[in-house]
Amino acid sequence: MVRIMKKIAVVFALHLAAILLSVAVAGHSQICRVPAAQVVVVVVVEGVVYCQNCSFRGTWSLESAATVAAARVGVTCLGWKNQVIIRRAASTDAAGYFYAALDAAGDFYKGDPARACYVRLLASPNAACDDPTNINYGFTGAALKDEGKRAAAKLLDVMIYSAGPLAFQPASCASMQ
Ligand SMILES: *[C@@H]1O[C@H](CO)[C@@H](O)[C@H](O)[C@H]1NC(C)=O
Repeated sequence: MVRIMKKIAVVFALHLAAILLSVAVAGHSQICRVPAAQVVVVVVVEGVVYCQNCSFRGTWSLESAATVAAARVGVTCLGWKNQVIIRRAASTDAAGYFYAALDAAGDFYKGDPARACYVRLLASPNAACDDPTNINYGFTGAALKDEGKRAAAKLLDVMIYSAGPLAFQPASCASMQ
């Protein structure tokens, strides 16, 4: 009987030790490994596309401008060797707003998406307003602006940059001339 009690005590002690060890290991890995190893940084570019009002043709003003739905924009990003590493197209929603999530890329030019990427106007579905303007460099390439906008999900660190606003213009503003 005593031997059995001793055996149970030894088995119990071993189990307890194993449990304590696993808790210690789990606690250690949670503190030291999980966050640093698994957080993924996602770069997002957002902006709005307009149709410039004919009253402001030739300027960069977007006063009284209407937004353009289903407009296409292209995001291009360069890598550390100045080579193109990302090319992504995005479309605006009903409010003229676009949101392009880029693949997580660790080797942006100068390590900075704001210096590595630019946005260009690609196409407007509105035949009455499909001439791309260079307002905010929508024709030659609009730089990304880091306005400190961030979103954090469980294991995602989302960095939201903005570009533009960009604008198309009517091919001609007959009534204005
Ligand atoms: C352009 O702007 C003028 C004056 O600000 C406004 O009256 C007009 O409705 C605008 N045109 C369009 C197409 O929005």
